[in-house]
Amino acid sequence: AAADKGGWSSFMAKEVAEEPDAVAKTVLGRVHDGQIVIPELDGMDELFQGVSRVIVLACGTAYYAGLVGKYALEQWARIPVDVELAHEFRYRDAIVGPDTLVVSISQSGETMDTLMAVKEAARLGAKTLSICNTQGATIPRESDAIVYTHAGPEVAVASTKAFVAQITALYLLALHVGRVRGALSAEVGVEAIEELEALPEKIQWILDNEQGRIEQLAHWMTDTRSVLFLGRHVGFPIALEGALKLKELSYIHAEGFAAGELKHGPIALIEPGQPVFVMVPSPRDGATLHSKVISNIEEIRARGARVIAVAEEGDAAVLPFADEVLRVPLAAPLFEPVLSVVPLHIFAMGLATAKGLDVDQPRNLAKSVTVE
Ligand code: G6P
Repeated sequence: AAADKGGWSSFMAKEVAEEPDAVAKTVLGRVHDGQIVIPELDGMDELFQGVSRVIVLACGTAYYAGLVGKYALEQWARIPVDVELAHEFRYRDAIVGPDTLVVSISQSGETMDTLMAVKEAARLGAKTLSICNTQGATIPRESDAIVYTHAGPEVAVASTKAFVAQITALYLLALHVGRVRGALSAEVGVEAIEELEALPEKIQWILDNEQGRIEQLAHWMTDTRSVLFLGRHVGFPIALEGALKLKELSYIHAEGFAAGELKHGPIALIEPGQPVFVMVPSPRDGATLHSKVISNIEEIRARGARVIAVAEEGDAAVLPFADEVLRVPLAAPLFEPVLSVVPLHIFAMGLATAKGLDVDQPRNLAKSVTVE
């Protein structure tokens, strides 16, 4: 099996290293003359023009990709989006009809909870579109349309490269639907495509420049009993993903919170020494979100939290308050998640590795859960 890992210590190490490629290959062949072209969606313009809402259904990491996708679909396609755990949707007598587009997200395309939810949505008359990483899997076969992610086979149980590919596919879908619905200007579209195409190199920068430091930090933290993750806007789903990955791989208690929710409860958890990862939005984006997150950092710092900030290169405002700063390259706000998640994947993998755990096969988990 060592050969299959291509010299890497684990499939996960290999798959994290492939994150730039997973994004690049998902975009490849889908940009022509400054526009997104998704050949698989040919002939679907009328459907996209006719739907009045989108429901995204998924489980696990794919669900967090969906939460990021909501921001992109609402901003670029100006269509209301709900994101729901597939198993919760399935049994709640959802109000869904022919004007609803259900977008399912699944790496394997075999997750039973997601499959059953898609079937239920179709039974209620919704149109279904599958974002999937596995050619010919059951969920895409049961759907009206398919957009494949091209992350390549993912072997490690916990998802990494498929996650960045799923978010990328949602960007492509949002830009495409936005144009078809006349909601997206050519100019914004072109800028977004430039950002999209720059992502692989920026992820690579994180792997080349920050991975060693992050692994060192993880090594120092092997005795940690609990880690919190805070984020706002698109940083919120990334906080959730960072916490999930840490639970899955290292068996450490971890929780993700919306930074704005801190004062409504979670701040009670902060005691001296409590490690908290904070996803810091870019200071260039109108500065509001950035300054709100900086105040959150001050609040938890004043109570003794150990702050690990994931912040844009050059953002000096975080320095006085953060114990550690993990840097990511500059990107437009909607694209930040694809970068800021990378340090969290490296951290979770690094911590589990430092604890001597099997990062590819965490206890109690299966790669694809084909039972409800
Ligand atoms: C399992 C895996 C997770 C994954 C989830 C959804 O629980 O352990 O890593 O996120 O299923 O899988 P899917 O194949 O539908 O994306």
